[in-house]
Amino acid sequence: MFSEKIQEARIGYTFDDFLLTPNGSYVEPKNVDTSVKINDDIILNIPILSAAMDTVTESELAIALAQEGGIGVIHRNKTLDQEVGEVKKVKSADDITIRDVKTITPDSSIKDVQKLMDDMSISGLPVMDGEEIIGIISRRDVNPIIKSGLDHLVKDIMTSDVVTIDENTSAEEALDIAYENKVERLPVLSNHKLVGIVTIRDILNHKNHANAARDKDGRLLVAAATGPFDLERAIALDKAGADIISIDCAHAHNMDVVKFIKTMKENINADLCVGNIATREAAEDIIAQGADGLKVGIGPGSMCTTRIVAGVGVPQLTAVSEVADVAKEHNIPIIADGGIRYSGDIAKAIGAGADLVMLGNALAGTYESPGEIVVMNGKKYKTYRGMGSMGAMTGGFGGGADRYFQEIKGPMKHTKLIPEGVEGAVPYKGFVSEVIFQMVGGLKASMGYCGAKDISTMKEVARFTRITQSGIKESHPHDLLITNESPNYPTLD
Ligand code: XMP
Repeated sequence: MFSEKIQEARIGYTFDDFLLTPNGSYVEPKNVDTSVKINDDIILNIPILSAAMDTVTESELAIALAQEGGIGVIHRNKTLDQEVGEVKKVKSADDITIRDVKTITPDSSIKDVQKLMDDMSISGLPVMDGEEIIGIISRRDVNPIIKSGLDHLVKDIMTSDVVTIDENTSAEEALDIAYENKVERLPVLSNHKLVGIVTIRDILNHKNHANAARDKDGRLLVAAATGPFDLERAIALDKAGADIISIDCAHAHNMDVVKFIKTMKENINADLCVGNIATREAAEDIIAQGADGLKVGIGPGSMCTTRIVAGVGVPQLTAVSEVADVAKEHNIPIIADGGIRYSGDIAKAIGAGADLVMLGNALAGTYESPGEIVVMNGKKYKTYRGMGSMGAMTGGFGGGADRYFQEIKGPMKHTKLIPEGVEGAVPYKGFVSEVIFQMVGGLKASMGYCGAKDISTMKEVARFTRITQSGIKESHPHDLLITNESPNYPTLD
């Protein structure tokens, strides 16, 4: 009966429909643990990913987010080589060992040294006699004699007493060795062969990001998006060192996408995350193909129009909770993707069963997101657009179009596309670290109210109260004019 379809339809709920109920708690926000272990190799210190969108995640934002403990997903609206390049930039970002070491020979002139240092923006060079390191020369050696004679030879002024370290030396040990020997840089040897160089500056920089999400070799973690059938890209990203490959598709429960997961999985070493989905059935079908993680969200995103254009979607908290029921049975992490506006929404997503959240809008408009700041009416903004928007589908590498099973063909291509997203601008938000500080601070406050010492406890102990429109109204600031915008409660005007 058609009428039954309507009468028996379930109700779908989202963030604003609920509040977390306070529990008796011994937990103080400052003591909570926000880390999430995805597997033995991938541990995040905050449960946050950045969206694979061309106005959100390229290497600059991925580096900043990983330094805060999360992970960025490099978008795929680029050529394969460009995306691979972005992954490599993150993986080598604050590796304390510079592996592409520039060297010089003992018979080179100071003029050569100066040119190489200027061209490469470096301030020290190992001096090599064939494969053997016989000295080191730095700007400190060169500067005093620049005026008197650029024809001096390297061997005349280099420091021959080189302090080296083994490649297994830890950052702390390297720092001690550098201080004890009063040197600024240490060549790294493996089996007596030069394989890299570390500098005090890089070690100290590394220590500044104590909460960073790193792989076993100390490199920042990074994820990268691929199309649902783009095996070549998945393999290349895997080879480039991506820790997670994320199949980026508007409807991952398309059965051809589901079938192809096995092939993807068989050809890569990285974890395979599959999305987006919004139902139990999708979770079951995709887990059966061997996915390592699931991404949930059909249409909750701030710039999405899927629910309007196609009339399809599931309100996000219902979708997350249903997928989480299935994922829990298989011990598979799930990501709540889209619709997160405030830190309280992150807490609600986790309370409803998510392990992690993905942020688009909240991280668009940061200093590190792609694009320039524009000023409108005296306020700063950056652009933010859906990957299914006309601009994203026709611009870039067309990575927006196949996300929606559409093809760009022929002239006047924009007339042949059905967008599922819009293009706009979001207020400039400052550095990623500032946004994350507020988002994670709010999550920690929530965990304190709920009595959850860590994320897995939060998933279990969080209780919800269903609220009404009046409850929503009461929840927001009311009956006053906000005169000073709060960093965790942005207003658009
Ligand atoms: P937020 O709310 O954080 O959402 O801005 C980000 C997520 O939205 C999804 N996305 C889209 N969904 N049309 C859609 O229906 C689009 O054009 C579009 N672009 C991105 C995506 O899952 C992202 O992480």
